[in-house]
Amino acid sequence: MEQSPFIKFEHVSFQYDQGDEWALNDVSFHIDRNEWVAIIGHNGSGKSTIAKLMNGLLSPQKGEIYVDHILVNEQTVWDVRKKVGLVFQNPDNQFVGTTVVDDVAFGLENHGVPREEMIKRIDTSLKAVNMTDYYNHEPHRLSGGQKQRVAIASVLAVQPDLLVFDEATAMLDPKGRKSIMNTIKSLRDTRDVSIVTITHDLNEVLFADRVIVMNHGKVLEEGKPREIFKKQEELVEIGLDAPFVTQFSKHLKVEGITFEKEPLTHKEMMDELWKFHLNM
Ligand SMILES: Nc1ncnc2c1ncn2[C@@H]1O[C@H](COP(=O)(O)OP(=O)(O)OP(=O)(O)O)[C@@H](O)[C@H]1O
Ligand SMILES: [Mg+2]
Repeated sequence: MEQSPFIKFEHVSFQYDQGDEWALNDVSFHIDRNEWVAIIGHNGSGKSTIAKLMNGLLSPQKGEIYVDHILVNEQTVWDVRKKVGLVFQNPDNQFVGTTVVDDVAFGLENHGVPREEMIKRIDTSLKAVNMTDYYNHEPHRLSGGQKQRVAIASVLAVQPDLLVFDEATAMLDPKGRKSIMNTIKSLRDTRDVSIVTITHDLNEVLFADRVIVMNHGKVLEEGKPREIFKKQEELVEIGLDAPFVTQFSKHLKVEGITFEKEPLTHKEMMDELWKFHLNM
């Protein structure tokens, strides 16, 4: 199969109202098939605007957006929406059904999926987010993390090629956050799907293949998480903190503890600390 980006932004500029500042200003990037890309940036840097442009909820005043080779415009927007699923921050705003099953079914009815096929897809997607015990539960009685998993199942059922999570863990407690991150990781491992995670929490970025850093409506930088977090000062300058492990490692360096390989995850940190300890 031809290897080409699944999404392409070419010199995209967007403003919400004429005369406003540009929310996005000449933004170009791509996302490959099956790639996991994290988008980070300060408040108002344009991240959610990118998410909404990706599935045609907004359309740019300048530049072009291609999804799976299709130029996004009024004629193609319904095709594009089947290919790109969005999960937002607040799970409570995403429910329409009175039971979990109804809720997942609703999106499918909108897309005209036949009944037999619907039943299959509801099963598969609730299984993927580990919510099969909750078919007939009322969505508003679930925990934040469970609600968000149902929201993900509803999006999965439409079988998109790209899942966009816009601050999908921001309103959750640490447990809910972890369950959503694990869900995203398992989707990545088991499915043929591209993933975009938009987040303030840089600890969530470590598992992505690539990071795009937004600053005032422009792409400031792109790279692997390891390369991006080397530039701690730069991140702090644009209002972002380095992840916990990176900050910790910096403190250790001041104390004279240096590592062969800069650790990024807790596990890497533990491994490096053991090596250091054994070499002492
Ligand atoms: N509905 C709107 N009408 C007018 N301006 C908007 C609207 N939504 C966003 N903006 C402006 O567009 C710019 C980009 O906003 P956007 O929501 O994309 O940023 P963000 O990076 O997602 O921020 P956050 O981290 O707070 O979610 C900001 O200056 C914001 O004030
Ligand atoms: Mg946002």
